[in-house]
Amino acid sequence: MNHLTGRAAIVTGGGRGIGRGHCLALAAAGARVVVNDIDADAAEAVVREIAEAGGSAIASTANIASRAGAEDLIAASVAAFGGLDILVNNAGNLRDRSFLKMSDEEFDQVWTVHVKGTFWCTQIAAARMRDQGRGGAIVNTTSGAHFGSFGQTNYAAAKGAIASMTYTWALELARYGIRVNAIGPTGTTRMSETFAGGTPLPYVDPTRNGALVVFLASDAARQVSGQIFGSGGTRVAHMVQPHYGKTLYREDGWTVEALEAVFIQQFAGEFGALGMLGQPYPFHEGVGPGERAVESAA
Ligand SMILES: NC(=O)c1ccc[n+]([C@@H]2O[C@H](COP(=O)([O-])OP(=O)(O)OC[C@H]3O[C@@H](n4cnc5c(N)ncnc54)[C@H](O)[C@@H]3O)[C@@H](O)[C@H]2O)c1
Repeated sequence: MNHLTGRAAIVTGGGRGIGRGHCLALAAAGARVVVNDIDADAAEAVVREIAEAGGSAIASTANIASRAGAEDLIAASVAAFGGLDILVNNAGNLRDRSFLKMSDEEFDQVWTVHVKGTFWCTQIAAARMRDQGRGGAIVNTTSGAHFGSFGQTNYAAAKGAIASMTYTWALELARYGIRVNAIGPTGTTRMSETFAGGTPLPYVDPTRNGALVVFLASDAARQVSGQIFGSGGTRVAHMVQPHYGKTLYREDGWTVEALEAVFIQQFAGEFGALGMLGQPYPFHEGVGPGERAVESAA
């Protein structure tokens, strides 16, 4: 499998979990890989694993939660491999707390790593790819949590922002031959251990997301940009971009009375699943203490 021979790839948060799987898959496909992680031992271990399998990789301990860290990371790829063709924004953290208790620090810590880390790494990498003049591929990491996830205001917001940045960058960077997609992966990892309020979930091999990342980074996906895919386990699923649905028009514009006359009748049937667990709309009888969505409290 030599889909990426000669390409240089960066994976943020590549030292463990899902990112480690991306690194192994990219290296097996012929890419030279920068394994980035703030955990130096974890990054070095993945570099050794790749070398033992005959691949090429270096470690970077840059903290992508700052512009300076992102600059160091892209510079490491340029220094070691002469440039950069693929960036996988995967690094992430969690600070779960129910909304009314969430602190500014908890919000900012998650927002900075996921959203600003993805923004900084991609802006610096894309400028480098533009200057190289040979295109490139960006793969961001979102999550079904951006549909709404109990106890994860910070994480859901960050993953929604990453989805919106993915759509926007696909539009802006196409002129340079740079494609931008995202995955919503799954896998049993340090991070997933905190999902579901501690309820054990079936084991899902986190390396199973790597093939999709290789495919999206390769020329086989040259017509794929601005798209998001759920992955992991045995599935790959297209995540549909939000778009306007049923639309009503009224010649003179809408009044409160006119809305009151038709709104529930016309729109209630449109209210689909709410939240990442895909539960049927829970509020058809109204919102109140007895009608709360049945999800675990954080
Ligand atoms: N595990 C899942 O089921 C799941 C589901 C949806 C989305 N995701 C996403 O997949 C990605 C990987 O998650 P995971 O489950 O493998 O988590 P993980 O905690 O096992 O691994 C994340 C890695 O990122 C590194 N990291 C954190 N902050 C960093 C920083 N500032 N700079 C560099 N490295 C940093 C950590 O040291 C760690 O090695 C995340 O973006 C996560 O939100 C995971």
